[in-house]
Amino acid sequence: MATLYEGKMAAIYDAMYQTFVNYDEEYTFYNTIIKANNCKTTLEIGSGTGNLAKRFNENDQDYTGLDYSESMLAIARERNENCIFIQGDMRDFNLEKQVDSIIITGRSTSYLTTNEDLNETFASLYNNITEQGIIVFDFIDANRFIPFINENQKIIHQAEHDGMNYIRESNWETTSLDNFMLEWNAKYYTIINGEKNLIADDFSTVRVFTLNEMQLFLYLNNFEIIKTIDRKTYAYDTYVIAAKKKPL
Ligand SMILES: C[S@@+](CC[C@H](N)C(=O)[O-])C[C@H]1O[C@@H](n2cnc3c(N)ncnc32)[C@H](O)[C@@H]1O
Repeated sequence: MATLYEGKMAAIYDAMYQTFVNYDEEYTFYNTIIKANNCKTTLEIGSGTGNLAKRFNENDQDYTGLDYSESMLAIARERNENCIFIQGDMRDFNLEKQVDSIIITGRSTSYLTTNEDLNETFASLYNNITEQGIIVFDFIDANRFIPFINENQKIIHQAEHDGMNYIRESNWETTSLDNFMLEWNAKYYTIINGEKNLIADDFSTVRVFTLNEMQLFLYLNNFEIIKTIDRKTYAYDTYVIAAKKKPL
């Protein structure tokens, strides 16, 4: 599990990702799919610091957020006093009532590092959506990501939030890990008067996926794909898949 979402890192994440991610666009993207499938209720998994929650709430939609990290949830709750947020693990959760749509956003699938994690997650999603319900999730495309990090030893992202300049330097190790798992080291700096000051040094293990293996995981977990979208999002190429329960 990443340390990126704990303690002071949650606030740093929140500040930097306001620059990286266009949350209005992100909301419109997911909401269009949700609406096209007549979904009235939505659970967002990996709801993070509640930036999408804010948009769902502003549009009076029936939204619940779920996240593993208490620190991320604390920021999300402060941002969205009217929203319901649940602390939970996507691999094993039970809602009181099934929902019409579950979205897993912001490449939170990267933290499902074993095949068991994926199977457990898809089984939980299956149990928590209605018969006509849908799931929508994104993941980093291994076929484009792995050549990219092989060619770029250090990947730098810059962000500006509330008058503060940030830099993130990422280094990805591909060696010796199964399942296209990667060791990600990210160093976070603030830039004050041209000086770089290290504010956090984060290590996490993440996984990237090929489209074919994700299709197979869905098949094995009784989902039928409705739509696959090749999507350029912040920093890395991703796929988004929308799927529904296979008819019995
Ligand atoms: C990259 S952040 C994305 C946050 C948000 N969707 C965004 O776009 O800003 C990934 C989020 O997934 C959460 N997460 C990681 N593993 C999880 C798990 N097993 N169950 C639930 N949430 C998890 C982390 O706590 C973190 O908030």
